[in-house]
Amino acid sequence: MSDAPIFRPQYHFTPATNWLNDPNGLVYYAGEYHLFYQHNPFEPAPGPMHWGHAISADLVNWTRLPIALYPDEHGQIYSGSAVVDWRNSAGFGEEALVAIFTHHLEHRQAQSIAYSTDKGRSWTKYGSNPVITPPDDLRDFRDPKVFWFEEDGKSGKWVMVLAAGKRVLLFTSPNLKNWSQASAFGPGHGAAEGVWETPDLFKLPVDAGPNFRWVLTVAVADGAPAGGPGVQYFVGEFDGETFTTSGNERQIRWADYGADFYATQSWSDEPNGRRIWVAWMNNWRYASNIPTTTWRGALTLPREISLKTTPQGVCLVQQPVAEIQQLRGDHWRWRNETITPGGPNLLRDLKGTALEIIADFEVNDTLTAGQYGLRVRTGDDIYTTVGYAINSRKLFVDRSNSGQVQFSASFPGTHTAALEPDGDSIRLHIFLDRSSLELFGDDGRATLTELIFPGITCDGIELFAVGAEIRLISLDVYLLEPVTFLEMTV
Ligand code: FRU
Repeated sequence: MSDAPIFRPQYHFTPATNWLNDPNGLVYYAGEYHLFYQHNPFEPAPGPMHWGHAISADLVNWTRLPIALYPDEHGQIYSGSAVVDWRNSAGFGEEALVAIFTHHLEHRQAQSIAYSTDKGRSWTKYGSNPVITPPDDLRDFRDPKVFWFEEDGKSGKWVMVLAAGKRVLLFTSPNLKNWSQASAFGPGHGAAEGVWETPDLFKLPVDAGPNFRWVLTVAVADGAPAGGPGVQYFVGEFDGETFTTSGNERQIRWADYGADFYATQSWSDEPNGRRIWVAWMNNWRYASNIPTTTWRGALTLPREISLKTTPQGVCLVQQPVAEIQQLRGDHWRWRNETITPGGPNLLRDLKGTALEIIADFEVNDTLTAGQYGLRVRTGDDIYTTVGYAINSRKLFVDRSNSGQVQFSASFPGTHTAALEPDGDSIRLHIFLDRSSLELFGDDGRATLTELIFPGITCDGIELFAVGAEIRLISLDVYLLEPVTFLEMTV
């Protein structure tokens, strides 16, 4: 029996069949956002990794293309990145796309490259792979993310960040083929309960102004706030060789507080100068057991990331890309309502399994108790609670009773993120799909990303208040239209 109509996301990226994990090779070229991904084409479970491939003109509607990279004598194709070689530094051809990835053999991980001169439709592996072999004792040595670095009129170079145990190694190269190690970051920084994976490094303006900081993001396999894997980030400086942090920027910072946000990667060459990233929306603790059958694994919405100055320092903020708004269909709105504990369900006539919800609730200093928010995907005594707790100043998602939860002891539970009000309201911006929930708290100052598996009949929604009444300043709910997935076999 196919689960497709029940759990298949309507507007999140999934493989047509079988397994997906990390996003890979994100690069924009000639009108197309390329998305490659860790893919086992033989079963909906981890196995021999290939690079699956899709393209999009708008980050919303996708065309799935044939597999781009197959395992070979050097091993499986693990995670990595892609760039446009604008200067033909590698000599593979004008404007070649070059993929830089990990070749994984049972006892060795090494970095290799492949290129395409036909807009990513066909790929040739470099004849002298691998281009970086691990020092003898290093078992975890993977996930190269490469970018072009050029500053102060000096001649440029390629920079690679690579996960190596609980460190990030930085390499530089003139031509993508010959690499030398420039520096290392960690240990002694960040969360180190698990091995580090899929690093990324990029520069972002602070508060959309003239000053820039560098951001190093690193997935860590254990110890994240929701239990298990998560993505941490560091704000610091990068001089082309070394990444450094100082002061309170040494503290651990998490990109997302939900259970299902891992292995982020940002797009190279984004045409509008935005920094957009996407994560694998799953968790290695139960990734192979989630109750889908013909396919397994989805990506988050593409999110635009930026830096904002806060009392805690310069922090990462995430927003869904504006392109998603094209999916908005039927619209309901409420203004200035009071939500009382046990009161009537204002939203009783509203139904949907794919919704965007924007709710602004009042918060002020006289409010010291209570919780409020929304119960979503309700029906048949099933619900997921998304809310804000006034006394602890925390956003939360409780998926204990969200539908199928028994497939892993790690799945049910409540996950939280601290969020101090900035003004006199808190915004809950929620994207619901058939088997996921993404919560952007206060314009993305804190986010929680969670899988949920309610039945298709769980399509209700209600507002709630516990312990005190609360004023709902505004509520907008949009039905989201399904996106188009085209399949192209040649
Ligand atoms: C992260 C990861 C990477 C690795 C890939 C293998 O989820 O473990 O470190 O390259 O997945 O599929």
